[in-house]
Amino acid sequence: MKRKDLLDLQSLTPAELRQLLDLTHTVKREPERYRQALTGKNLALIFQKASTRTRVSFEVGMVQLGGHALVLPAQELQLGRGESIEDTAAVLSRYVDGIMARVHAHRDLITLARHATVPVINGLSDLTHPCQAICDYFTIEERLGHLAGVRVAYVGDGNNVAHALAAGAAKLGVELTIATPPGYAPNPSSIAQAQSEAATTGARITVSHDPYQAVRGAQVVYTDVWTSMGQEQEREQRLRDFAAFRVDAILFAAAQSDALFMHCLPAHRGEEVTSEVADHPRSIIFDQAENRLHSQKALLLTLLQTSRA
Ligand code: CP
Ligand code: NVA
Repeated sequence: MKRKDLLDLQSLTPAELRQLLDLTHTVKREPERYRQALTGKNLALIFQKASTRTRVSFEVGMVQLGGHALVLPAQELQLGRGESIEDTAAVLSRYVDGIMARVHAHRDLITLARHATVPVINGLSDLTHPCQAICDYFTIEERLGHLAGVRVAYVGDGNNVAHALAAGAAKLGVELTIATPPGYAPNPSSIAQAQSEAATTGARITVSHDPYQAVRGAQVVYTDVWTSMGQEQEREQRLRDFAAFRVDAILFAAAQSDALFMHCLPAHRGEEVTSEVADHPRSIIFDQAENRLHSQKALLLTLLQTSRA
């Protein structure tokens, strides 16, 4: 069977994404069914950047499936001393059954995948965060019972999380509105790709610069940090540029009266979201964080169970 990577959501078909969501429902409902599913399998977790949820959910997820995970901070590998990504990929492929990597530059992930003979999973790059979006759409479906036609407003930076949400929305028939300050819109090619797929699935992807217009009628209001990892030197400028895009109680109240609040976390409370909204009874941020575990177990079952078949 052909080896599969998960570098972005674009490369999944709508049917493959649907299968992942369906399997996540089953894995969450019946975890004991999969306790031995990945016995003897090892997953390497490479981190060029910090992580709480991705690291812990992948590591615990592998153990819950009967396998094992190795956390490998990039600086502690020879990679940090100049060994090439190509050689690292080839060597790790001789030891482990899959590699998850969190990298700065998406192109490094592509190089890694090209030279690995085992599946490579994107655990976040500067371009996209597919594991997050799979979890997010699972979380919305779990709450609302469906995804087609669900109105999601993403308010904030047109970043990796926004790109992944757009790609997922296009495949799932979601109506996604992204509102960013001028100059912080998502990558036009990611949006164009999502919009062209949306035309075939009934999804709608729009980008604007008006947070109130974006949240009007929304069933889900979503935000992410204004300063992503690697952009720390831009923080002061971003605090100024994003000030009108904070999800506070007033903006949240402009959505539907039963709207849910989501955030991939970590949150910078007081910046992109106030504590009043993050801790609101309709905030589902911790359910969302929990679901990283279930959705990634589904992903690992899908990629690793068949990788050596
Ligand atoms: N949401 C997310 O990926 O969190 P971490 O950076 O903690 O992994
Ligand atoms: N956009 C954020 C997401 C963190 C999970 C970042 O890249 O830092």
